[in-house]
Amino acid sequence: MHPIQTYGLALLFCSIFATNNFVSAADIDAGKSKAVFCLGCHGSNGNSKSPQYPTLAGQRAHYLEAQLKAFKSGQRTSSVMQGMAANLTVQDIQNVSAYFSSLSTESAGGDPALAKKGESKTAMCKGCHGTSVEGRGNFPKLAGQQPKYIEKQLLNFKNRSRKGGPMNAVASSLSEQDIKEIAAYLGSL
Ligand code: HEC
Ligand code: HEC
Repeated sequence: MHPIQTYGLALLFCSIFATNNFVSAADIDAGKSKAVFCLGCHGSNGNSKSPQYPTLAGQRAHYLEAQLKAFKSGQRTSSVMQGMAANLTVQDIQNVSAYFSSLSTESAGGDPALAKKGESKTAMCKGCHGTSVEGRGNFPKLAGQQPKYIEKQLLNFKNRSRKGGPMNAVASSLSEQDIKEIAAYLGSL
């Protein structure tokens, strides 16, 4: 290809990329306004005070986006969340995810005796979820999450009612007792 054509093509790609970036940039303030519908369950600052609802504050934005899209498409099932996600556009999903991700996580706490037993069982989790289970790449943060919620998700992965890539195999190798201990440890961080 002639050098000038190559240059022109490169410019074209750059401008397409820049335009996409502009259109899809997350808007935290817009996310905050949408998030008013979420706070009743997920906590007034994104930190859940109820064992059945997950904390969203400080969670990785990419992960939140992926889960909201999975609820919207029905790939992840939840009667409550599928309804909530159906009302969000792709742009809303980016905005609320960026908003919740920008808040700080408050530890939910976990039963100390169970947590002590759980610690040694989480070594392999840290390879993906980060050395402090703070989340990494597409892997969600687990530190400080509501223990009952973690327990329920691990059981869902184990019985395959939630599809989670590597998590189905990981959870199937854990006993129900392991799951209780691990959840208490992760919640206590
Ligand atoms: C009526 C209560 C309720 C409301 C309101 C609600 N949620 Fe949820 N949310 C839940 C429950 C329950 C779950 C756990 C579902 C499950 O068991 O898999 C959940 C899970 C989630 C998850 C997955 C978190 C994770 O760690 O995987 C995200 C993301 C989420 N909600 C975002 C939102 C957003 C954004 C809104 C507002 C637009 C919202 N939720 C409103 C109850 C609610
Ligand atoms: C090979 C990488 C890998 C390993 C090892 C791993 N995970 Fe995960 N985990 C993931 C991925 C990817 C997801 C997101 C799944 C999805 O898309 O829903 C996830 C999701 C989760 C969730 C759901 C979080 C939420 O907010 O709903 C929990 C809980 C979890 N992992 C716990 C663990 C525990 C406990 C261990 C160790 C016993 C572990 N994981 C080991 C990759 C891994």
